Amino acid sequence: MLEQITATRYVTPLREGGSLPGVVEADDLGTYVVKFRGAGQGRRVLVAEIICAELARSLGFATPELKIIDIDPQLGAREPDEEIQDLLTASAGHNLAIDFLPGALGFDPLGWRPDPGFASRLLWFDALIHNVDRSWRNPNLLVWHGDVWLIDHGAALWFHHNWRSANPRRDFDGSDHVLAPYATEMDAADADLAPRITRDLLDKVTALIPDEWLEDEPGFDGAQAVRDGYVEHLLARVHGPRDWVPSPAAAPPPERERQGSIGRFWRAAREEGR
Ligand SMILES: Nc1ncnc2c1ncn2[C@@H]1O[C@H](COP(=O)(O)OP(=O)(O)O)[C@@H](O)[C@H]1O
Ligand SMILES: [Mg+2]
Repeated sequence: MLEQITATRYVTPLREGGSLPGVVEADDLGTYVVKFRGAGQGRRVLVAEIICAELARSLGFATPELKIIDIDPQLGAREPDEEIQDLLTASAGHNLAIDFLPGALGFDPLGWRPDPGFASRLLWFDALIHNVDRSWRNPNLLVWHGDVWLIDHGAALWFHHNWRSANPRRDFDGSDHVLAPYATEMDAADADLAPRITRDLLDKVTALIPDEWLEDEPGFDGAQAVRDGYVEHLLARVHGPRDWVPSPAAAPPPERERQGSIGRFWRAAREEGR
């Protein structure tokens, strides 16, 4: 089970994405990014967040800790924005809390040159979970304490919006992936990661999803049947023919110097003054 906490203060919305996650404080004195059950695509997004983050963690990627947070809609009583009030009302009860990484920076391949092994493993992982939300425009990676942290897996596992057309062998288009140009070692990534996606791991990860986010899924007989649906899909994807594994990049792009950074500006000014 994921740890359970209770929200004590709604701090501010994060307006970047469409789903309006918010920064929230909780009774364990922690600060969290909360993904609300009542937002846009509802509880399936939270299910994808749990499965993918916990799989990522077990494969050795850094990703913030997850907890289940209880929300009282009264928290938003003083929030002037009606959209946020409505969101909190629609989300009364259990939601997903993601540990807030204070001072984390958005990932920029010009500032932090990815290692080819890491890039290949991340591209492989995103292909496994059908994650189309790691583009160079919107990498959903944070740099924090010298490491790259994976966030925002709400758009992954999108087959669950239409289970009948779910296809474990579906191709993955990695052409837009932020690290695709650096992913030169796909065979090694596949050999390393594929054997680690076992039934035992998938059972453990799906067991963390609260029953109430799985119940009444059309076509399934109860929460455990939905868990099994995810397990069988991912097992078939990883242990069947792996045509979905993206081809490796031929060679990483040449290292480029950042243009117009503050450091460059000062260096130029100093050199001129000499
Ligand atoms: N755990 C976190 N710590 C710090 N900042 C975060 C965290 N999670 C998300 N953010 C910030 O909030 C933004 C939106 O969160 P994200 O999970 O990407 O949701 P969305 O579905 O709205 O894109 C991110 O781009 C990032 O800047
Ligand atoms: Mg995002």
